[in-house]
Amino acid sequence: MIMKKIDISARINGIQLSSCIMNASGALCTTGQELSDLLDSSSGAIVTKSCTRQPRKGNIKPRYFEWNVGSINSMGLPNLGIDFYLNFLEEKKTKKPVFLSISGLSIEEIFFLLKKANFSSKITAIELNLSCPNLQEEILGYDLYKIYDFLENVFKFNEKPLGIKLPPYFKEEYIKNMSLILNQFPIVFVTCINSLPNGIFVDPRNETSVIQPRNGFGGIGGSIIKPFALANIRKFYTYLRKDISIIGCGGISYGKDIFEHILCGASAVQIGTQLMKEGISVFERLKKEFTLFLQKKNYSSINSFKGKLKNLQ
Ligand code: SIN
Repeated sequence: MIMKKIDISARINGIQLSSCIMNASGALCTTGQELSDLLDSSSGAIVTKSCTRQPRKGNIKPRYFEWNVGSINSMGLPNLGIDFYLNFLEEKKTKKPVFLSISGLSIEEIFFLLKKANFSSKITAIELNLSCPNLQEEILGYDLYKIYDFLENVFKFNEKPLGIKLPPYFKEEYIKNMSLILNQFPIVFVTCINSLPNGIFVDPRNETSVIQPRNGFGGIGGSIIKPFALANIRKFYTYLRKDISIIGCGGISYGKDIFEHILCGASAVQIGTQLMKEGISVFERLKKEFTLFLQKKNYSSINSFKGKLKNLQ
């Protein structure tokens, strides 16, 4: 049998990825060793752990827990500080696109980080995390009143390709209004979605929560959140300017999940919980499964079905 060549490369606006599969910020991307492993893996890009101005130890442990269909975390942004990531990338020679994730604890800090990132020639794009569910501060991605002014100020100086990691939204109106704001700025991509905030997982035997920070409340990830990720991708695909790419994130465990994300409108995908569970070999497995899936469906590239989800008649 002659096998059709399947192309799973992707384009995020002008950024070319050899594979549409990459890590999600937060999953095995904090230390130099983890980042080197990601660079050596078959992922199409790397995303760093969201960094802050100063290194942070993060929240008290245990702060991450996983079960068969999900994960809960309240990491509290443990990271080595922006200088570490910029220096690490200076020293690495890589052709793989690098997304520097940043997440300040205040708007002033975000501006500081963005300005610093703008000076680095080693960063392909910035993923601005406006959706961390584990800080005292409010989730900026939920404050549509603040976001417009914030972005207006960002684009007074920002020249790097910039994307925004968004929290999950549960109302169409929110996605529509957020899109109306984002459409006014030269944003290159959005990542949908960060973990679902304020979940709790209970250990009935010990009668406790399973993580310690914030009395057990944290962000929920893993296959349990896939329907919410798909819904957000679908709605943003409807309302966003067509040149703003969507990176799907949430609930990808198998090749067919990647297909579903792209069918809803994603141009590329990120792997979080499953990368934590399985380690770096997840990229090779997903690539194989996804390629095989497309082969069976007789699709040769992701553009043949991207965004083409049909309504049930
Ligand atoms: C964390 O470090 O608390 C998680 C970051 C995030 O989900 O944005």
